[in-house]
Amino acid sequence: MSQKQTHDGRLCIFVLAAGHGIRMKSDTSKVFFPFFGKPLLEHVLKAAQSLKPDKLVTVISPKDYQQAVELFGSIAELAIQKEAKGTGDAVRQAWEIAPEEDFYLILCGDTPLIKPQTLQSLADIFFKSHADAAMITAKVAQPKRYGRIIRNEQGDFQEIVEYKDASAEEKKILEVNAGMYLFRREALEKTLFCLNSQNAAQEVYLTDTLKDIRRNGGKISIHHLEGENEIFGINNRKDLSVALSIAYHEKNESLMLEDGVSIIDPNHTFIDPQISIGQDSIIKPYCYLEGPVSIGRNVSIGPFVCIRATEKDPVFIESQAQVGPFTSIRGGTCLKDQVHVGSFVELKKSILGEKSKAMHLSYLGDAEIGENVNVGAGTITCNYDGEKKYKTIIHDGAFIGSDAILVAPLSIGRESYIAAGSTITQDVPDHSLGIGRSRQVNKVGWKKRHIRIKDESETKKEEKRNGP
Ligand code: UD1
Ligand code: MG
Repeated sequence: MSQKQTHDGRLCIFVLAAGHGIRMKSDTSKVFFPFFGKPLLEHVLKAAQSLKPDKLVTVISPKDYQQAVELFGSIAELAIQKEAKGTGDAVRQAWEIAPEEDFYLILCGDTPLIKPQTLQSLADIFFKSHADAAMITAKVAQPKRYGRIIRNEQGDFQEIVEYKDASAEEKKILEVNAGMYLFRREALEKTLFCLNSQNAAQEVYLTDTLKDIRRNGGKISIHHLEGENEIFGINNRKDLSVALSIAYHEKNESLMLEDGVSIIDPNHTFIDPQISIGQDSIIKPYCYLEGPVSIGRNVSIGPFVCIRATEKDPVFIESQAQVGPFTSIRGGTCLKDQVHVGSFVELKKSILGEKSKAMHLSYLGDAEIGENVNVGAGTITCNYDGEKKYKTIIHDGAFIGSDAILVAPLSIGRESYIAAGSTITQDVPDHSLGIGRSRQVNKVGWKKRHIRIKDESETKKEEKRNGP
């Protein structure tokens, strides 16, 4: 971080994450709610890490301690707040671990949309203005339950008033507190331990330190943002869905405007922010793309395509591939150049070589498929025997007839054919035809005989009932 160039001293970051999160109405603590596959808190810790702090501490409740050690123990020190007595009290717990740093950046664990550049701007303003404290505020259309920024007639910051304590007039204020602050140690230390809980929530408010610093003659600088997106705080499940939609919307915009990707209907397209898509690709409506997915240039996805990758099993789709409509792609799948997968095809941990096709109604799991392979409609790889998973290998140029059941482990040779409707349990050599079905028998004249026999038996039944 440029902090090393802009000031002398150690930077410590506290991330507050020990609140009850009562408004989520859940057994899971708020900051552990998943947001694009990772806990909310992890997103804030990542943004914090981008500033390369000398110390990073997160305050956690005793109930979450073990989980936090496992997930974040390697990147942050953990302070426990036994009882959620408010944000000021949470900072006091972190202070015990790091009382001798020079600068303290304090963030809330429930604001996952914060960007590293914005934190850097806060630091720049703080150091440039030689402030005792700096904070981020934002002008929002609906201030909801955020703390309101009170300024005097000259426009100077006076204090933050929490929603619960605000008068009807104060509630109308549209400038709100983002919950992100940078303090000089002396300013924080002097005010933090004087806070009380005489307020509507009977909590120790960290926000009161800023009022006290100002009253003590300290300088407070403000990094003001227009709009709520980046500072969006998640306090209930509705907030969670709004934060997700903000992130999806921003991702779609950056794909369209910066990466040259066409998105037909951004309101019905859900692309994880970490996904990369190459220029001139097109995403058609109703697609859901999750996790580490990498898509090349000139690829067509959709409509109605679901791609779900995981850290362990990413998905790669190379250039000029066509996916959809109605395709489901799961982790560990790689589609090489010009592959075409179509309707009701599910792929899991499968590789399809260049120009191969699986156009309709297939399940391909743990399959390694070469180039120019045609997978017929209804083909299924039977990759699981109830205990273990097995591989199906289909070599270049093979043609799999419709409705083939491929029982793995199995290898289909180069340019071989599989007869439609086959159940294939043995390897098929190169340039061969594999047939695994009973031979068709045509019973000539069967229909006429069948009707005669039926008529005779009906007459006998009639005679039995009525007599001959
Ligand atoms: C807080 C601010 C509010 C601001 C908003 C921005 C205070 C008093 N209010 O309100 O001015 O507009 O954030 O999002 O700071 N936490 C603890 N221990 C506690 C209480 C909270 O660690 O005892 C943590 C929570 O886990 C959360 C963060 O602190 O990550 C903020 O707490 P939360 O209850 O969400 O505060 P808000 O009501 O959002
Ligand atoms: Mg909050």
